[in-house]
Amino acid sequence: MENYFTIDEQPIPFTPGQTILEACKSAGIYIPHLCHHPEFTPHGSCKLCAVIVNGRTVSACTIMASTGQELVVETPELNAMRRAMLQMLFVEGNHFCPGCEKSGNCRLQALGYEFEMTTPHFIEFYPVRDVDASHPDAIIDRNRCIKCELCVRASRDVDHKEVFGLGGRGFDTRLIVNSPGGKLVDSTFAITDRAAHVCPVGAILIKHVGFVEPIGARKYDRELISAEDES
Ligand code: FES
Repeated sequence: MENYFTIDEQPIPFTPGQTILEACKSAGIYIPHLCHHPEFTPHGSCKLCAVIVNGRTVSACTIMASTGQELVVETPELNAMRRAMLQMLFVEGNHFCPGCEKSGNCRLQALGYEFEMTTPHFIEFYPVRDVDASHPDAIIDRNRCIKCELCVRASRDVDHKEVFGLGGRGFDTRLIVNSPGGKLVDSTFAITDRAAHVCPVGAILIKHVGFVEPIGARKYDRELISAEDES
């Protein structure tokens, strides 16, 4: 085997140019991830894909695989850290899963189940975030935005429109829309855009189709996120 790294001393082959996350996925090894999407350039913001490479904790979605790497991808400590990252994401926004149209199809919620997150653990921020329902076909609910920038990347790299961006700093960072008044209806956004369909949570929702698929029968109601095939 020419190119390989090891996980628990087992050789894992990779193709030069693959990230650790991509190589693990090819080998059938699940690395949790939230801001990563196979269609888009890596972002490295959520840190759920943290693994240990040669003793250092790194993001598997941004580090290239190389020969000689010795990986640890799952330990109680790594999983506790992943659970804490999820808890921080939950308390930083306003995520009321039982009333969310995305429930059952939400990657944040599914990862919460995956890592047995039973409480928020941290004190809830309950930030004041606005909703933009101006567009006839889609709604932005910033309460649920996790700032993964998948819509930003999709709009920029696939739709070639640059409708979305992140504005503000720190706690005030929020999804902004590139239009004269900042409203989605005044932008070049269209429901056919890739950006309209890539949100992993319920921050960008398509109108007119709410609850067509009943809660209880949705994707992550049926399978763990670690078992899904994203390709
Ligand atoms: Fe790697 Fe988010 S999936 S940092």
